[in-house]
Amino acid sequence: MVKKITVIGAGYVGEHVAQALMLQELTEEVVLIDVLEDMPQGKGLDQRQSSTVWGTDTKVTGTNDWADTADSDIVIHTAGRPRKPGMSRDDLLNANVEIVRPCMEKVKEFSPDAIVIMVANPLDAMAYVALKVTGFPSNRVFGMAGILDTARFRAFISMETGVSVRDIQAMVLGGHGDTMVPLPRFTTIAGLPLSHWVSQDKIDAMVKRAAGGGGEIVKLLKFGSAYMAPAAGAVEMAEAIIKNSKRVLPCCCWLQGEYGHNDIYMGVPIIIGENGVEKIIEYPFNDEEQASFDHSVDAVKGLLADVAKFL
Ligand code: LAC
Repeated sequence: MVKKITVIGAGYVGEHVAQALMLQELTEEVVLIDVLEDMPQGKGLDQRQSSTVWGTDTKVTGTNDWADTADSDIVIHTAGRPRKPGMSRDDLLNANVEIVRPCMEKVKEFSPDAIVIMVANPLDAMAYVALKVTGFPSNRVFGMAGILDTARFRAFISMETGVSVRDIQAMVLGGHGDTMVPLPRFTTIAGLPLSHWVSQDKIDAMVKRAAGGGGEIVKLLKFGSAYMAPAAGAVEMAEAIIKNSKRVLPCCCWLQGEYGHNDIYMGVPIIIGENGVEKIIEYPFNDEEQASFDHSVDAVKGLLADVAKFL
């Protein structure tokens, strides 16, 4: 049973992850750790006090001391610089590897049996840093992005059709960057293909908007990037681990031959359970979809080569 979850980074994403874990009472304890002095302690205390009103027994605490994170079952890494308007996620590589690497050294030391969910950008490269630095098996190191990208696509479909998001199923795969691969052919509303509901022009527009969905929010916020949907995505993954529910969700995983690629983190559909990544599902791509996926692999390969210099 999951008793303890550490959330690294007490910024917007981290605090929303901690709050959702607490509201849904998914674990006994949430430890929010950050380098800033006092701030995580303040947020932890505020959350602990709010839990009395919400009526949940999940205990949130904040700390600057890694010893407090010891023996976590799940670690969710949210710490990292966010994008500024006009930046791509890849522009964050140099800054964020210097944040993720030391944190992963601590995770290896204090929580050697944890499952790590990476959230920091550029996501695919930061998941790779986590894998290499912790040395954990790849089923215990994966990243949150596909759920977010898919959530955006589903939200736009709901806005366009007026149909409940609950009845919209979609997949956005590939890297979490400009080359991500939304898959309208595998997108359905109550079992009917998307093309039954909306015109091809509208589908194309929604695909484009979903792929640029993070940048759209960065531009609007002006001082950072999206945090509510990213937090929700990370919590959905944690919930599937905690409940061993075998959800099928798109996540950033280490490929070993799947989709024709090796030694690379890419967004693919997986079954999630108590062991983390339990199985990678291979969708039957047509030539065009495989070409888009391969293009995304090429982009992520460049990032992994860049980040490898730091490891
Ligand atoms: C986004 C960032 C968090 O897509 O990657 O909003």
